[in-house]
Amino acid sequence: MTSTQDAKAPTGEVVLEAVGLTKHFPVRRTLRELFTRTHNAVHAVDDVHLTLRRGQVVALVGESGSGKSTVARLLAQLYPRTGGDIRLHGESTRVKAGRQFRGYASRVQMIFQDPFASLNPVHTIRYHLTRALRIHRNDGGDLEAALHELLTRVSLTPPERYLDKFPHELSGGQRQRVAIARALGARPEALLADEPVSMLDVSIRLGVLNLLRDLKERLNLAILYITHDIASARYFADQTLVMYAGRMVEGGDSETVTQSPAHPYTRLLIDSAPDPDRLTGDVDPLEEDRGNGEPPSLIHPPSGCRFHPRCPSAMPRCSTDLPVPLAIGDTPGHWAACWLYDSAAKESAK
Ligand SMILES: Nc1ncnc2c1ncn2[C@@H]1O[C@H](COP(=O)(O)OP(=O)(O)OP(=O)(O)O)[C@@H](O)[C@H]1O
Ligand code: SF4
Ligand SMILES: [Mg+2]
Repeated sequence: MTSTQDAKAPTGEVVLEAVGLTKHFPVRRTLRELFTRTHNAVHAVDDVHLTLRRGQVVALVGESGSGKSTVARLLAQLYPRTGGDIRLHGESTRVKAGRQFRGYASRVQMIFQDPFASLNPVHTIRYHLTRALRIHRNDGGDLEAALHELLTRVSLTPPERYLDKFPHELSGGQRQRVAIARALGARPEALLADEPVSMLDVSIRLGVLNLLRDLKERLNLAILYITHDIASARYFADQTLVMYAGRMVEGGDSETVTQSPAHPYTRLLIDSAPDPDRLTGDVDPLEEDRGNGEPPSLIHPPSGCRFHPRCPSAMPRCSTDLPVPLAIGDTPGHWAACWLYDSAAKESAK
């Protein structure tokens, strides 16, 4: 099995792919629906494509409820998917509980938003890390040395100062570092970080992001970085994907997407951000300023482009035709799912 310790794995090698990934959560039926046999569902994620490569960070950006965490949980195989595929090194995977799940989880690890909730308050750091090492490695190596190595990797040094502490004895940033160390205990190839800094003090966010960047480089990790904050995506991620109401709407290298956004929703996200240079991560600008309308219901999402009820550039076809990803300008890999960039339509309008 390949592992982060496999220094020979080339940077850029594809680790994990979502292909047409779809998740619909069934909603409980009302009495009337029971009689009419209607089956409503929350269309949380529809036809999502993304690729995580070794040594690269992909940011997934979008407002609250756009489906970011659902994508991460699907990739971690914590939820069954409704449709599409998840490929690990090109191989289709669908894991169930037990040993099969542990095997997958040792290669694809999640880091959650709230480090306090993800650590058991009655157990020490030593317990958490030992458990991760035993579940995922169990290679009979020197446990104490492995514990020291994990804590050193996340800059909690000297390790003996932290090993016998309980989570409540650590700061939020230290707890998140322990959560990262625990994930590294599995020797993963991919880390799925769901808003890993949004619950931390502003002053320590940058340190944790820098740690993740350092791990990406030293361990050649593939990282999915979920955030509300498009400014931090520019700083931290190689690629940025923008999600709106369960669908991907724009993607490309982070510099291009954040400096020359093409999709009207990405532009709105950037324009609504109070300070594009900050690294706060906890503000959902569109939550604060609903000047451009509300996010749509995902039980009955808008037809055509899901953004059309809020879009300042909407055209008649936007409410009927689902936009396809279209290449933008000359920047390789930059795309947007928006009819404004349909050159065939532009030509015929001339
Ligand atoms: N277990 C579930 N059952 C039913 N609906 C769900 C479930 N989990 C998520 N949803 C719905 O799916 C949609 C996407 O939720 P998700 O948590 O993925 O969004 P998000 O982008 O991570 O939001 P946030 O930024 O607030 O974390 C939302 O409408 C949410 O209410
Ligand atoms: S497809 Fe139409 S509604 Fe959707 S973002 Fe583009 S212009 Fe706006
Ligand atoms: Mg979320």
